[in-house]
Parts: sequence; structure tokens; C-alpha cells
Amino acid sequence: MKSNIRKVVVPAAGLGTRFLPATRVVPKELLPIAGKPLIQFAVEEAAASGIETVILVLSRSKSQVAEHFQRSFFLEDFLSRQGRYGEEEELRKLSSIAEIKVVWQDAQLGLADAIRCARPLIQDEAFAVLLPDALIDSSLPCLGQLLACYEKHPGCIVATQTVEAAEVDRFGILELVSIPDRCCTGRTARVTSLRERPQPGTTSSRNGIFGRYILEPEIFAAIELTRPSLGGELQLTDSLSLCCGPTPLYAHRFEGHHYDCGSPAGFVEATIAYALKDPEISGRLRARFAADEQLAG
Ligand code: UTP
Repeated sequence: MKSNIRKVVVPAAGLGTRFLPATRVVPKELLPIAGKPLIQFAVEEAAASGIETVILVLSRSKSQVAEHFQRSFFLEDFLSRQGRYGEEEELRKLSSIAEIKVVWQDAQLGLADAIRCARPLIQDEAFAVLLPDALIDSSLPCLGQLLACYEKHPGCIVATQTVEAAEVDRFGILELVSIPDRCCTGRTARVTSLRERPQPGTTSSRNGIFGRYILEPEIFAAIELTRPSLGGELQLTDSLSLCCGPTPLYAHRFEGHHYDCGSPAGFVEATIAYALKDPEISGRLRARFAADEQLAG
């Protein structure tokens, strides 16, 4: 999969307050789903989508997130001396999944501000954004689906799916109009307006935004005009609202299952789903819970 978008911004400087106390010291992005840290899922999805450069936005207290992708000669040597060549190879491959660059966000002013921090490395190109706590399990990588859409619909694009009416206050919510869909999938619509986490009952729309974006460089001017709103943060949804119009904004209904791994409940759901897909773990898991069911029955 190749497109002319070559860079993805992965914001990972947030405080992770929904996941305290686990995130008191350990960055949320390093918490593992069935053995693999969230940040690795993000970088692998970007690479599988044809992205070459991953720009991590980090705070100074979360530099371990970037270290995950650096070689550890000590560990590689240790595994090799023990004859654990498969594990050594897995470890070594981490440094070559994609080119990793880091920019620092000094104060957690919100997602739009995190993206602004990457501006010096983006300059005048369209780029992608991938939120690592929004884990998406799909046959085609979700970001790749958006990049394919971009080929036919240049402009800003957000990933969307339908959310429950009672859950609109957990998502950015989009108003859409249909367009003649040159993607030939019927999955792309034009965005007419968007709001960050509206109260249930204040919108009839149930089109949520799901942590994957294609952004045109015009977004940076819009971020400069964005004022703090929900939670006192600079919301990307507000910046997109300001951009929307002069720059076309599309929503692409992606194929795949989303897990909100920024919340303990979503994280556990993802852990169970991925563990059941892992041949090594699932056998033990099924045996363990089948035994419980027999006892209960
Ligand atoms: P979230 O709102 O889900 O993450 O932001 P958070 O702020 O870390 O978590 P809570 O809400 O306090 O539990 C989505 C993504 O944007 C990043 C986060 O790290 C996460 O990956 N982010 C958010 C930043 O990089 N900087 C910010 O100022 C805010």
C-alpha cells in the first residue's frame, strides 16, 4: 500500500487520567494488549499502510515510548547467547518498522496543540494522524483505508463509524451529506459540521470520529485560530470545524472493530479479543474458563 502521504503524527503526550493509577508512572501507550504495547500496534498499522516516518509527540516524562523502538544490544546479545533467536529477531525488528522521530509537547494543551508540535517536521505536506489508544482491528489497516480514500478525495478525512445514541459524549460527532462516491465503496461522505463530545439528546447524529485522520497543511493555520473549549483543551474537532469549507472535509466509514484502550473497560475488552485470537494464549484461556463454566453449570 503506497500513497504520497509519507508521515504520520502519533500524539502520545497525554496524561492518561482515565487510566490512573496504572498510568501514574507507566505511559498508557506502553500498556500491552496480549503482550504487545499499544504504541507498537500504532507504528505497525502506519507501516502496513505504507507510511515511512512516524512522528511521536511525547512529553519529557514519557520518553520511554520512543525507547521501545531503539535497539537494545545488551538484550539482543543476552537472547542470542541463550539460543532464543526468534525473540532476538523480534526485538531487533522493532527499530526498523518505520523511521521514528520525536517532538516534545511541554504542556498538555490538547490534541490540536500536540499536532501543532509536529509542524516543523511536516511543513507543507498532507499528513496522517493516528491515536494510539484507539486500537482498530481490521483486515485492511484502518489508516490504509483512509489513505486509499484520499487518493480519490483529496482534503481532510476523518475515520467514522456509528456510535450508540447514549455514547455521543465520548466522541467527536459529525453531520454528513452523501456525495457521489468515487471511492466506489459508498463509504465516504462530506462533513458539514462537527462537535466535540456533545451531550446525548443535543444531536441526532451518531457518526463518531475514531482516532484516524488525514490532514492537509491548512490545519496548522486553523489550530492557531482555535481557542480552548471542552476541558480547557485545544480540540482538533474545533480546528477541523474552522478548516472545513475552504478545505473539503470527508468522513470515511472504515471497516474494523474499534477498542477505546484509553479506558480500563475498553482496554480489557481489547485484551480478551486479542488473547482469544492468539493461538498460544487462547488455548489456555479457553481451557481455564471452560473449567469455570463446568463448575458453575
Ligand atoms: P486522550 O484524551 O484520549 O488522552 O487523547 P489523554 O489526555 O492522555 O487521556 P485522559 O483523557 O486524560 O485519560 C488522545 C490522544 O492524544 C494524546 C494522548 O496521549 C492520546 O494518545 N494527547 C492528548 C497529547 O499528545 N497531548 C495532549 O495534550 C492531549
